[in-house]
Amino acid sequence: MRPSVLATRATFPDIADRLRAHFDVEDNPADTVWTPAELIRHLQGKQGVMSTGSERIDATLLDACPQLKAVCNVGVGYNNVDVAACTARGVLVTNTPDVLTETTADFGFALMLATARRITESERVLRRGEWTKTGIYDMFVGGDVHGATLGILGMGRIGRAIARRGAMGFGMRVIYHNRSQLAAEAEAECGARYVDKATLLKEADHLVLVLPYSPQSHHAIGAAELAQMKPTATLTNIARGGIVDDAALAQALREGTIAAAGLDVFEGEPTLHPDLLAVSNIVLTPHIGSASVQTRRAMAALTIDNLIAALGFGPRAGKPPT
Ligand code: DGY
Repeated sequence: MRPSVLATRATFPDIADRLRAHFDVEDNPADTVWTPAELIRHLQGKQGVMSTGSERIDATLLDACPQLKAVCNVGVGYNNVDVAACTARGVLVTNTPDVLTETTADFGFALMLATARRITESERVLRRGEWTKTGIYDMFVGGDVHGATLGILGMGRIGRAIARRGAMGFGMRVIYHNRSQLAAEAEAECGARYVDKATLLKEADHLVLVLPYSPQSHHAIGAAELAQMKPTATLTNIARGGIVDDAALAQALREGTIAAAGLDVFEGEPTLHPDLLAVSNIVLTPHIGSASVQTRRAMAALTIDNLIAALGFGPRAGKPPT
């Protein structure tokens, strides 16, 4: 008998067909975000789930779905999954590293550039019909990116890909802080130098956050950290909401503690802290760091490979899932 799986969100039709070639599939063509109770209901009788960051996979859900064997998350981040609770119940958890690294690094760099050069802020003024004269010295003058100091907090695959763009493409001085220092060879490959967190905050002209969310990284950037940054600095968060204290950031932007911020992720997304919407020196995007067609297809395809491997049959049977 073929295993039954649930795809919690709508995916590309041909990729969904590939899922159907291997499994009995319940999917979600309307792309509704289910409540926890609805998710439990849809998961009854399923051995696998193709989940996303929008669903919380916790002990309550696992206990209500004892036949579940594999949670295959579409995304590199998996803070929506209680991995310890899964492991305790023998449920395998997979994610999709590697396939999204370069796309997400492109996006992080784009968001940093847009923030530093005030691209969306100036576009909003133009769209409101308020561009009446071209100011030379006072019209949306931003900070340079080329030749500036790029600070990276979190130095995994995406952090290193951003470092390479900064060092090799934009002639930036790149410093980073991470739980552990990279090997000298890896530092040389991405052109980055390890510093402590205080130095990172103090010296970065453009600080980019790329660390995973965990209780330890909750509010890693709050009022105290923002106060240590340069008043001309920018902050870009493409990692996870909750790493930045959004209320403290809005206040810092209002008061000129830092110059500007670019945020792709938010505490409590898709709801935003209202204070963020009230400041102008900010670029806001709806969690689209890995959202290129090629990469989202690759993430979905890898998740299906992982389900096949995890549920123990087909061409990838016996091969470890990612
Ligand atoms: C990821 O891969 O973790 C992205 O943030 C999408 O959830």
